[in-house]
Amino acid sequence: MAFYLAISLIMFGLLIRSNVATTNSSFSKDCLGTDGNSVLKVGFYRESCPDIEAIIFSWVGKAVLDDPRMAASLLRLHFHDCFVNGCDASVLLDDTTSFQGEKTAGPNVNSLRGFEIIDVIKSELEYLCPETVSCADILAIAARDSIVLSGGPWWEVQVGRRDSLTASMADANNNIPGPNSDVAALMAKFQNVGLTLVDMVTLSGAHTMGKARCFTFSSRLLGNGILPNTNENFMQILQQLCAADPNSNTTLANLDTTTPTTFDNQYYINLLSGEGLLQSDQALIVSDQTRETVEAYANDPLAFYEGFKQSMIKMGGLAPRTINSGEIRRNCRNPN
Ligand code: HEM
Ligand SMILES: *[C@@H]1O[C@H](CO)[C@@H](O)[C@H](O)[C@H]1NC(C)=O
Repeated sequence: MAFYLAISLIMFGLLIRSNVATTNSSFSKDCLGTDGNSVLKVGFYRESCPDIEAIIFSWVGKAVLDDPRMAASLLRLHFHDCFVNGCDASVLLDDTTSFQGEKTAGPNVNSLRGFEIIDVIKSELEYLCPETVSCADILAIAARDSIVLSGGPWWEVQVGRRDSLTASMADANNNIPGPNSDVAALMAKFQNVGLTLVDMVTLSGAHTMGKARCFTFSSRLLGNGILPNTNENFMQILQQLCAADPNSNTTLANLDTTTPTTFDNQYYINLLSGEGLLQSDQALIVSDQTRETVEAYANDPLAFYEGFKQSMIKMGGLAPRTINSGEIRRNCRNPN
């Protein structure tokens, strides 16, 4: 971990310098809205809050040094944000008298973490550049930084998102895929937001880090519905882990049993040896359609990195609000 942190900090210094030289070329990488106007772009805050990337990186670096799992948790926050009416920081809103937010939805309750890290980043940014940086952009940059700090690839994050005024528990329940899904069910949720089968297999590679509760995978251990290609020894270890309470929200297993805090292609290698933790992970090699991509990534870590960057940029561009909608929240937990 310390090794990756050191390397990342050096790389980051180089990238900041190279960014200055390539300012103009960033326009070709902009994400275009339906009206043809640029919605998200690289360098949106270059004038208004030039230190945003360095500030976010240093807070995420500190958080990951204190708790390596935090990288996984911050990455997942961005995913759960984007899948529910776009990347608009709806996931960060606490319940109000007028809506029940997403934090208590099934996929999120007793599970999402990292909100305090976003809060400290936001408060420093509010001090330096008041009412300028959206909470949704903080989530997107923190997700990228979490990957870099765990040894994964770096890419330029497109920014300029705006924050929602509301959140929807029902939409979180409907849009976020569940752990017992098969490929068809997973695909329905990804297609629903405009992502492809390849995006689905690629983004599932995020399960190369982080943890899951017995509650999310213990139905696999009951003997019914065990997928072909499952490793029996692995299942027995999980069975013992969860024996005391199969519905436990506190007993956790690593999603990547081999390199749990490193962002690498080990997730795909594990699937081929039957050691995917969730039913939805192991399901990716049952279907021929998805198995091909799993094998390609298992054999070629750089292909996985390249694919992951592209799919993250796509997911990060889901339903961006334009300048006329949404707001820049002062506190990520509440609408202004
Ligand atoms: C393909 C459909 C997906 C399903 C069914 C799924 C399901 C889950 C479940 C059940 C957990 C464990 C949560 C818990 O027990 O508290 C989890 C954890 C996690 N998921 Fe996913 N997920 C999916 C896709 C993704 C995507 C697209 C990303 C990010 C790009 C992602 C990132 C993560 C991370 C990093 C963790 C670990 C979080 C931590 O340790 O705090 N997942 N996921
Ligand atoms: C774990 O949390 C879920 C809600 O996510 C709940 O339904 C379940 O009963 C909890 N398990 C235990 C053992 O409390």
